[in-house]
Parts: sequence; structure tokens; C-alpha cells
Amino acid sequence: MGIESSCDETAVSIIERGEKNWVINEQIKSQIPLHSKYGGIVPEIASRNHYEVIDYLTLKVLKKSNLKIDDIGLISLTQGPGLIGSLLIGLCFAKGLSFSRKIPIVPVDHINSHIESVFIDNQNIQYPLIALVVSGGHTSIFYQRSKFDTEVVSKTRDDAVGEVLDKIAKFYNFGYPGGPIFDRIYKQGDKNRFSFTFPKMSDGSNDFSFSGYKTAVLKYSKEFKIKVNTQIFYDLMSSFLNSVTDYLLKKTKLTAIGFKIKSVVVAGGVSRNSLLREKFKEEFKNNNIMLYLPSSRYCTDNASMIAWLGYEKYMKFPNLDSFDFLLNSYSRAFFKYKKKIK
Ligand code: KG4
Ligand code: ZN
Repeated sequence: MGIESSCDETAVSIIERGEKNWVINEQIKSQIPLHSKYGGIVPEIASRNHYEVIDYLTLKVLKKSNLKIDDIGLISLTQGPGLIGSLLIGLCFAKGLSFSRKIPIVPVDHINSHIESVFIDNQNIQYPLIALVVSGGHTSIFYQRSKFDTEVVSKTRDDAVGEVLDKIAKFYNFGYPGGPIFDRIYKQGDKNRFSFTFPKMSDGSNDFSFSGYKTAVLKYSKEFKIKVNTQIFYDLMSSFLNSVTDYLLKKTKLTAIGFKIKSVVVAGGVSRNSLLREKFKEEFKNNNIMLYLPSSRYCTDNASMIAWLGYEKYMKFPNLDSFDFLLNSYSRAFFKYKKKIK
């Protein structure tokens, strides 16, 4: 059983691994309607909603799977990164289940789980690989020699790509989250009308930056007095999304050339974007590097990817003292959090 509660989705999934490898059932409760009027996630509302629905979702996923809690062989949960209050709801709930029913528990990293999401439907992906993780909280490229040997190659210095999409949609009062809206309106605009330059790091590093995109959109918006839902608005949004996806592709391609890899993985909420998927597929179609994208339902936050990675981790490190591990990782998270609010 996988349990995910790091941000604004509460999710519980039951998978079967071994001879059969499949997701038996997953229940996801998205909090988008609760946060949309604020144009972003309100952490207090998020934690309270996780608390309200997590037990109900667990009962529902068991019922839909025709299983009882004692049939569960392993509990896997998101250890972080995420909103601390939201993570704690998942942790306390999972620990309670684990203690009371004596089910082993394993914590997993949310970002690594996004990478793992592509393995749910592609079980023969070859290492080494590079993974571009594009979500509301992260934009990074990782190099993986194997599943548990990961190195960060690039990360964003400011906003994550999904965050920029969401902020621009918020600026225009155009709904939340911005990403799916951009996906819907992209084809209505002229992608060549506005130009954007790819951000470059002055220190020559390989990192990403997206704040310049935000500034450029606002500049064009003022200069041309752009109002929402006009043709020029659609042109600006298409030009912006086109440039952002080209930028992500260019950085990924350069990294792929620099490392001797067999596969490229693109994962996270923004990997659901149609334009991004199209561009990446086109680029890698005649390449000897294989490209893997998650199925649409596993792009955004879900508990199947948590369960999938939890199983792999437990098989690789069966003697992991998971409670100790959990306790330590959470005290570290708290310590960092306390330092931040001081
Ligand atoms: O992975 P995710 O569910 O949560 C985090 O771990 O952050 O990603 C959420 C992000 C949001 O910023 C949302 O706008 C973006 O994914 N997103 C999309 C699409 N669907 C979700 N961005 C572009 N196109 C989409 N179709
Ligand atoms: Zn995520």
C-alpha cells in the first residue's frame, strides 16, 4: 500500500508486485477546488483536508481491491519533500496502521518516486539514465547509475516550471493550476509572435532558472496592455509555453549527450503537457537513447509511484530499520523548518 500526502493530493494505492506487477486500485482526492480561489496551495487547508479524507480513502481502496488491511504486506509512504503539516498526516496515519497491524513500513522520497512512476508501465527501462523531473515544486535533472544511486545534475535556482505556469495563470486570474489551462489554450495562439531568450547562468552552471520568463511575460503584458482571453493573450501564452518546453528539451538533450546513458525519463506534473510530450518524442524518436514518459494518470502526484518505489526499496534493503529511519528523517525536517521560521 502506498500513501501520498505531500502537497494537495491525498492518495492511497494498492499494488501487486512479484509475479504480477500492476496497480490493483488507487484512490486520489485532489484538493484543487479548495485552493483554486487563492490561486495557490494554502498549507493549513491542505493538512486539514488530508486529515479529513485519508482514512476514508484507505477504506475505499481496500474495498475496491476486495482486500482487508491484514492482506497488505508493506506500507510505503512519502517521506518528503513536501509541506510539513501534510507530510505528518500521512506519516502518523501510516505509522498507526503499521504499528497496530504489524505491517512493515518504508519511507520513500517523493521526487525519486516521480522518476519511478515511469516504471509502472515500462518495467524494462535500462540504466544508466537521466531523469528530468518537472513539477509544481521541482525542476531538476538527475543522473541515475541505478535505482538507488542518484546524482543531481541541474536544479532550478528560483521557481519550478509548474510554479511559473501557476503564477502566470494567477496573475491573469485565469484559474488554478495553470499548467492544464496552458495545455488547453496552447493551440489557440501563435507561438512565434513573442520571443523569449533562454536563461543562462552567469557562473556557467548547468542549473535552470525560470524567473526571467515571469518578468518577460509581465513586461509584454504591460507593453501591449494585454487582456485575458484576447487573441494577443493566446499568442503570448503559446509563445511562452513553446519557449519553456524548448528550453527544457535543450537542457535535457545537452545532459543526455554529456553522459553515457541508455534512457531518458521525463516525469512530474508538467510531463503531462501535450506540447512537451510531443517535442520530446520527436527529438528522441531516431535516437539510440530510449525516452520514457509516465502514463497520464501517473504524471501528477499519486500513491502508486510511492508504492512502486517502496517495494523496490524494501527488496533492496530488507533490513532497513524503517522506524528509526523515519524518526531521523522527520527530526531533520523539523529542525530545518524551525531554523527557517526563526
Ligand atoms: O507533480 P505534481 O502533481 O505536484 C508536485 O509535486 O509539485 O505537479 C503539479 C504541477 C502544477 O504546477 C501543474 O500546473 C502542473 O503540474 N501540470 C501541468 C499539467 N498538468 C499539471 N503543467 C502543464 N501541462 C499540464 N497538462
Ligand atoms: Zn509531485
